[in-house]
Amino acid sequence: MPQKKISRNPITRNTKKKGVKKGVVTKSVTKHGTSKKTSDASANEDTLLLQSLRGMRDILPEDQPYWERVRRVLTHASQEYGFQRIDTPLVEYANLFTRLIGTETDIVEKEMYTFVTRGGDKVALRPEFTAGIARAYIQHGMGILPKPVKLFSVGPVYRYDRPQEGRFREFWQGNFELYGESDPILDAQTIQLAYRVIQQLGLKNIEFQVNSIGVPESRREYEKALVRYLEAQKSKLCQNCRERLTTNPMRILDCKEDKCIQLTAQVPQSIDYLDQESRDHFKRLLEYLDELELPYTINTRLVRGLDYYTKTVFEIWSSDKDGKKYSLGGGGRYDRLIQTMGGEATPAIGFGLGLDRIILEMKRIQVKPYQEPRARVFLAQLGDMAKKKSLKLFSELERNSLLVAESFGRGSLRSQMRVANRMGAEVTIIIGQKEALDDTAIVKDMVSGTQETVTHERLTDAIKKILKTNQELKIKEVNIIRPAEELEKGE
Ligand code: HAM
Repeated sequence: MPQKKISRNPITRNTKKKGVKKGVVTKSVTKHGTSKKTSDASANEDTLLLQSLRGMRDILPEDQPYWERVRRVLTHASQEYGFQRIDTPLVEYANLFTRLIGTETDIVEKEMYTFVTRGGDKVALRPEFTAGIARAYIQHGMGILPKPVKLFSVGPVYRYDRPQEGRFREFWQGNFELYGESDPILDAQTIQLAYRVIQQLGLKNIEFQVNSIGVPESRREYEKALVRYLEAQKSKLCQNCRERLTTNPMRILDCKEDKCIQLTAQVPQSIDYLDQESRDHFKRLLEYLDELELPYTINTRLVRGLDYYTKTVFEIWSSDKDGKKYSLGGGGRYDRLIQTMGGEATPAIGFGLGLDRIILEMKRIQVKPYQEPRARVFLAQLGDMAKKKSLKLFSELERNSLLVAESFGRGSLRSQMRVANRMGAEVTIIIGQKEALDDTAIVKDMVSGTQETVTHERLTDAIKKILKTNQELKIKEVNIIRPAEELEKGE
């Protein structure tokens, strides 16, 4: 989430000012929440750095409507597809991730936040969800539940990545996992779900890439072919990929260095080395996707950066106007993982969406964020007794499903009415000394200007009646205006 350098939000403005005045904030913060200094050197223990860690940032109130829209779409889609929510700890034993994600992967080699607790346990902040949820699946004996078991999670994950646009060290994922089914129709349905979320978020020009990387046995043949092909040109690969040639050759296809991309343009293709079962599985997946009319491209270089995948892998890509591409999400099948961990053999598939990147994309293409329902009623009070009564009345009205605004801190009626006008209140309830004494309230229709005094028992009905009339008037207005506009347009 890009942060403005000078925020109009008074909370951040004050904080920054204080830091600057005291000379406490020594580094300026860029819009990606990264410090301009490239090192992560922290201040000595006495210095209070009033800034979040590099690659981590606050999600401020002004950005929350975007997050709210994303959370709502995710929750809705997860319910539609029969997923149940699961929350797992942010911290797990480090070897859960090193074993499952793979020791030769970037995440484990370079990006994990690992530390030893006071009790001597080697732990890590989760860099993704899949491993922790698989651990929970086995630990809680979910294998006995009717299949498929579908679990959904959302929350922050941590990777010590190099911060830049769309790349953070603390970022959020929406994560879906499905256990117990190996039929490719589930792969298609999983991709359909990812597609549905992307669509409901209003994102356009999104590319779905799919591939099959087969099973470890067939992959070995492919890796041999890959090494044979690349060995002769080894010197042209980047230093990392030269090492990968012996440790994890398929990861070379994932390298972002130009020279490696060029060198691997003509490499043998993984689908040519698939075992028969994986080949059939992939073929049927593509048939299902065609049947669903989901647009996709086959990317035979797609290998994913985690070791647990078998057969289907997929990624969701956006591209901005400069042609810069971002992976908004990715996933795949991992049929061997649960068994590798000591559980019963359980096929599984899932995907994770990068919510920070999705929100950047929503902003870039100007998707509307979620709009909080607006209070249409304002409660004004005058005098001590009225003030006391109005606090109780406020909660009674809320209980009757009326969203009410107020300005209890203000004493003068005039300034309260100014607030009511500014927020466009359709009804203002006024309680003065007299009304407080005889348990009544003045109900003022702000549209027509009329007002009446009603008892507390009649108050909710009186307010709702005015709101309903206004609503009907608005609908009529829209209907009157529309034909006139259409006539003008010659429709
Ligand atoms: P992943 O591809 O490593 O997959 O991450 C999923 C998404 O997280 C990426 O597509 C991207 O949008 C986002 N992401 C990754 N790194 C960063 C970053 N540094 N800053 C911002 N966003 C980032 C997984 O994590 C798998 N566990 C997905 C999965 C679930 N596979 C099966 N089930």
